[in-house]
Amino acid sequence: MREVRVDLGQDRSYRVIIGSGILWQLGRLTKDIKGQPKIMLISNPLVFDLYGAKAVDSLRGAGLTVNIALMPDGEEYKNLEQLQLMLDEAARVGLERSSVIIALGGGVVGDLAGFTASIYQRGIAFIQVPTTLLAQVDSSVGGKTAVNHPRGKNLIGTFHQPALVLIDTATLDTLREEEFRAGLGEVVKYGIILDQNLFQLLEKEAQGLLKREAEVVQEVVYRCVRIKSQIVAQDEKEAGLRMILNFGHTFAHSIEKLGHYKEIKHGQAVAIGTLMASILARNMGKIDSTQLSRIVHLFRCLGVSLKVPDYPAQMIYEGMLNDKKVKDEGLRIIVPQGIGGYDIIYNPAPDSIIEAIREAKDYPYGCRYEALND
Ligand SMILES: NC(=O)c1ccc[n+]([C@@H]2O[C@H](COP(=O)([O-])OP(=O)(O)OC[C@H]3O[C@@H](n4cnc5c(N)ncnc54)[C@H](O)[C@@H]3O)[C@@H](O)[C@H]2O)c1
Ligand SMILES: [Zn+2]
Repeated sequence: MREVRVDLGQDRSYRVIIGSGILWQLGRLTKDIKGQPKIMLISNPLVFDLYGAKAVDSLRGAGLTVNIALMPDGEEYKNLEQLQLMLDEAARVGLERSSVIIALGGGVVGDLAGFTASIYQRGIAFIQVPTTLLAQVDSSVGGKTAVNHPRGKNLIGTFHQPALVLIDTATLDTLREEEFRAGLGEVVKYGIILDQNLFQLLEKEAQGLLKREAEVVQEVVYRCVRIKSQIVAQDEKEAGLRMILNFGHTFAHSIEKLGHYKEIKHGQAVAIGTLMASILARNMGKIDSTQLSRIVHLFRCLGVSLKVPDYPAQMIYEGMLNDKKVKDEGLRIIVPQGIGGYDIIYNPAPDSIIEAIREAKDYPYGCRYEALND
């Protein structure tokens, strides 16, 4: 079992506990931090069928009262209507200021449950039990909560840090292959810009990771959480530093939007965005061709497709400008500086971005990838 502490001062620091097969400890850990709270556990039917009994048994075994609230499975349910239903349920079962909401599921459940906890009675305690790779290495740590609005993804939300994050990496065994690989997009992201050792570990253990070997998965998740928590501790509300975690994301968001959030998974779009930003970096002399090849090769070994969807480069670029923050503050692109370092490019020349997108579309490995891995 490993542990990371998210250091946010006396009131809001919390533990992230990482291990394989540790879900049964949820009850004891909840009691350790909150005493004897009433619990509302939020999940979806798929995840609850797999892990609900274990989580609930552990909580009840520790003498806690547990209410269960399920939301339908899918990003389209991360909305205000479901938020309202969760608040209704919280009120109906009589959650109090001392109560705890637990999220058991991926990023969708985590974001909605966290939002519910952050506004019910002006904010009650919240525990994350993430069960997807993306949620374990990214969304469960850092306190961002949100629901989508017809006019924008994650348009409505709050910052509300969890009181505890319990990561049972064994839950990843049941994750669909495409979900697992999409999560790897975020994992590689950390390695490229922030941790050369993680990047090397991924190169060395790619096969074990793909086979989801317990030791390898646990180590990789631990390293990612450690990076994320360090960044969050320094810049909780994304006033500056935290934005570097958006590496690859400016490209990715545009690609996801062009596909109406249906054609491509977020993590996969991030991998493609990462390739585009890395090509830009190579063109600017911030990484060399060998380093770019290593990045592409790693994605390939991890079975992450880099095939760019068939949208014109110009459209992808225009989509990147179509963001409120970009309109206010100008475009900022995070690029790698060597492996394990980063730089921020402010207001890059349009042609340089369009060229990087075009090159990513033509990148030989990107195109041949699927044939190689099938
Ligand atoms: N709050 C943040 O900081 C943050 C960061 C990144 C992403 N997000 C959000 O996270 C969401 C995406 O999260 P996600 O990728 O986890 O998607 P998800 O929550 O939709 O989960 C993906 C699928 O896997 C299923 N699933 C979950 N755990 C499983 C398991 N152990 N075994 C089998 N199936 C399982 C889910 O039911 C779902 O069908 C997006 O809404 C995104 O905006 C938030
Ligand atoms: Zn992401």
